[in-house]
Amino acid sequence: MTVTDFKKLVSEGIPSELPDPKPYDKNINHAPRRKDILTAEEKKLAIKNALRYFPEKFHKVLAKEFYAELSDYGRIYMYRFRPDYEIRARHIDDFPYRSCKSAAIMLMISNNLDNAVAQHPHELITYGGNGAVFQNWAQYRLTMKYLSEMTDHQTLVVYSGHPLGLFPSHADAPRLVVTNGMVIPNYSSQDHWERFNALGVSQYGQMTAGSYMYIGPQGIVHGTTITLLNASRIMKKTKTGNDTTLFVSSGLGGMSGAQPKAAKIAGVVSVIAEVNPRAITTRHSQGWVDEVITDLNKLVARVNRARSRKEIVSIAFHGNIVDVWEKFAEEGIKVDLGSDQTSLHNPWAGGYYPAGLTFEESNSMMVSDPERFKTCVRRSLVRQVEAINRHTVRGTYFFDYGNAFLLEASRAGADILNPDGEFRYPSYVQDIMGPLCFDYGFGPFRWVCCSNDAHDLEKTDRIAASILESMIKKSPEQIKQQLADNIHWIKEAAQNKLVVGSQARILYADAEGRILIADAFNKAVALGELSAPVVIGRDHHDVSGTDSPFRETSDIYDGSKFTADMAVHNVIGDSFRGASWVSLHNGGGVGWGEVINGGFGMVLDGTEETGEKLRMMLHWDVNNGIARRSWARNEGAMFTLKRAMEKTPGLKVTVPYIADDQLVNNIINPPAPLKGG
Ligand SMILES: NC(=O)c1ccc[n+]([C@@H]2O[C@H](COP(=O)([O-])OP(=O)(O)OC[C@H]3O[C@@H](n4cnc5c(N)ncnc54)[C@H](O)[C@@H]3O)[C@@H](O)[C@H]2O)c1
Repeated sequence: MTVTDFKKLVSEGIPSELPDPKPYDKNINHAPRRKDILTAEEKKLAIKNALRYFPEKFHKVLAKEFYAELSDYGRIYMYRFRPDYEIRARHIDDFPYRSCKSAAIMLMISNNLDNAVAQHPHELITYGGNGAVFQNWAQYRLTMKYLSEMTDHQTLVVYSGHPLGLFPSHADAPRLVVTNGMVIPNYSSQDHWERFNALGVSQYGQMTAGSYMYIGPQGIVHGTTITLLNASRIMKKTKTGNDTTLFVSSGLGGMSGAQPKAAKIAGVVSVIAEVNPRAITTRHSQGWVDEVITDLNKLVARVNRARSRKEIVSIAFHGNIVDVWEKFAEEGIKVDLGSDQTSLHNPWAGGYYPAGLTFEESNSMMVSDPERFKTCVRRSLVRQVEAINRHTVRGTYFFDYGNAFLLEASRAGADILNPDGEFRYPSYVQDIMGPLCFDYGFGPFRWVCCSNDAHDLEKTDRIAASILESMIKKSPEQIKQQLADNIHWIKEAAQNKLVVGSQARILYADAEGRILIADAFNKAVALGELSAPVVIGRDHHDVSGTDSPFRETSDIYDGSKFTADMAVHNVIGDSFRGASWVSLHNGGGVGWGEVINGGFGMVLDGTEETGEKLRMMLHWDVNNGIARRSWARNEGAMFTLKRAMEKTPGLKVTVPYIADDQLVNNIINPPAPLKGG
């Protein structure tokens, strides 16, 4: 297809003639059938809602077809309207546009829906089982059309995938404002999501899916590498002997699939259990996991051999994680690091497969007998925790990996709570990411080269490495390790072949690093050293963007972790400081109703105005969270905020006075008066 033809099709929006129906492609990884939750009246409403996108002349055919989709899949995806062209990242100029920012957004959307990138591309799901870019193909088509005709004096508004329309605005405003899953708080249970999503009025955008900032599994490889490196450092403080470190976890899906690759980069032997053969094949064929084993005895033998030979190997076990924990406990296999990355943010609809059922049995039971399925999930979680507890008494360092494992296991009645009601195990944010990264402003800064050219990416890697290298020479002791880990990462990144989809890179940087790198990219675009603009952004697993009491803000201990002021302020502040697009989401990572998070994208087009905006916006985007963490009395954040205030004229933040614990204790629990006193 020529570029001209492609541009024409993208600009077309909803076609004037009905396209042919599309056969259901069995070679694609499809979303599981969703719960049949609507009443007969609500089903009529869902169909009427879907028909709103189309002229009346199509309604007779489409009403029947949409009802069939709702009955067969639990959702109306409008498969017939999936475009015939290949959806993928391309050179920015291959998209039809009047505003270069909107073309960059089209590139990012396309990458999120690429068959090679997205988890269930035909259902418009990018990752996490339910992380949606759009709810249906009409929304995709209309959004691309609006973006293709939008000027720098309009802003596109998207409500949970639905493009509400273009509204007049000004050149400095965001070109796009997205919200996902924003509902009235009392209507934010899992079943509310099922209902609203089936009606076509709300969606779960996860984090980077609904804000178009997903860059394939690279993002999570980096985060997981940093986590495993630091977890190993924590674990080594108490480890006896010098045998090779063994990491056990589950999931080879969208994000979890990064675990074996990250473990290898971190120099750790890994066993990752996965029940879905398709997920195993994908990761194995990509070279992200070295070996596949289906027999538990063979697994035990292979792990022992790898350890005795100090062979850093990554192993996929085809089967249930519960069986692995139990078998390793019986065989006395010493596990050093343990975690879980099943999709427990979505426990009843395919996120977690209970032990004792085959993959197929689970898939059918979750639809045919959801209550029985729930019981199986709960029993399995209880068993899993029992087995993990047997390991941790022998020294395994187990951490929750931000998938709501501790939360769901506790809800299932597993033995996972301390007598004080707190979880027995830390979340990786409490022990690792919070105190070592977030409190110092380090978070998942990322960029995408809009030329879609690997040469540009190589140049950006070199620019970023040289900036971090000059920073480390002058940096305080507290952040040297983070800088060193990221210099190592960026230097090896090309060699590790991490690009899947757009020419993208991620590294962890603090406010200063993000600003220096973005500024250097902007100048390189201006000088023509980079052949096209660069998009910068981040995921939401960061210092400021996300209020998530069971993940990103699980290390906030002043009682404010169930508030969401930080995330909401963050996105508002980003939007008036120069972001090209912003997004705000209910749900993400740990589940609908459990987190509020916001994101941004900024197009570095080489102009001076962009230079000014990026400095202002990135400074806020990091220091908002530093200020909040400092107010929560997190030591690292208090240190970082002090540094930021010394360097930044105009930054004046309220800092806490620290009360003496003894003084407060004595007020509430006065010491017994001395005898005779
Ligand atoms: N810590 C982080 O930084 C981080 C980042 C992103 C996602 N997450 C969370 O991690 C979870 C996984 O994300 P994902 O994108 O990989 O989801 P996913 O649904 O693509 O993958 C999860 C995989 O787990 C497998 N699985 C489920 N139950 C199993 C069991 N009992 N035994 C073995 N395998 C089982 C599934 O078949 C699936 O392939 C999500 O809850 C997500 O929110 C954490």
